[in-house]
Amino acid sequence: MTTLATLEATICSTLGHDISFSGEPLGDPTPLPFATETDMLGNVSLRRRREFAWGRHHARVALRQLGVAPVPILPRSDGAPLWPSGVVGSISHSCCDCGAVAARVDNVLALGLDIEDDEPLGADLLPIICTPTETERAEWSSSRFGPKLILVIKEAVYKSYAPGTGAFLDFQDVCVRIKHESGSFEAEIVNSDKPMSFGSRIINGIYLPFRMGMMAVAARFRGA
Ligand SMILES: CC(C)(COP(=O)(O)OP(=O)(O)OC[C@H]1O[C@@H](n2cnc3c(N)ncnc32)[C@H](O)[C@@H]1OP(=O)(O)O)[C@@H](O)C(=O)NCCC(=O)NCCS
Repeated sequence: MTTLATLEATICSTLGHDISFSGEPLGDPTPLPFATETDMLGNVSLRRRREFAWGRHHARVALRQLGVAPVPILPRSDGAPLWPSGVVGSISHSCCDCGAVAARVDNVLALGLDIEDDEPLGADLLPIICTPTETERAEWSSSRFGPKLILVIKEAVYKSYAPGTGAFLDFQDVCVRIKHESGSFEAEIVNSDKPMSFGSRIINGIYLPFRMGMMAVAARFRGA
């Protein structure tokens, strides 16, 4: 089956834009972040230090593929990464994998990436993650991920949404339609109290299974 490291071409061809991706299983040795990033991170667990460092590593590889020199990527107060000027992107890590996407703002307004392992979603989480409409449709039934597909999509949607709006989205604020034929999704912000994302309540994207995991990329394109 496809590995995480080989997904970039699929991301670009499916989304039809130049989106840079870097990702692979968390490995050793852990890359060394910039000193300013390490200082900001402070005294955290070894696990957190490792996932943070790999996230920054993949973010810098994704930036390099766009022609952007390596720079520290510090977090905003809400935790979202502060990308260099002219770039948007997103970072994700699961227990075993890590990756980052980035793109130029001339084409792409916002990106959200989520990576999850293939551990099934606990039954108790189903009514928290999925809306009653999603549960009734059960569009995940042909996927080996089951309802966890909705989780990975919604977390990617949230990461594409929050930095631009400054607003929080609960899982029940968004309703997802899965299009299996194309491996894509359409997420609608169904809570009308929530601000739109760049003038739209619809956020589109793709989901990609890989060996031992699943990834979703949500994107808002300029002019779309
Ligand atoms: C922020 C959140 C989405 C992170 O997802 P996660 O699966 O727990 O963890 P991931 O490894 O995939 O992502 C963590 C990375 O997301 C990024 N991130 C954190 N907060 C973010 C935010 N507000 N906006 C965008 N990206 C954010 C960071 O890069 C972080 O990694 P880093 O701290 O090493 O830089 C999740 O913790 C959360 O708060 N979810 C609730 C909101 C939500 O998902 N709603 C769905 C409704 S549509």
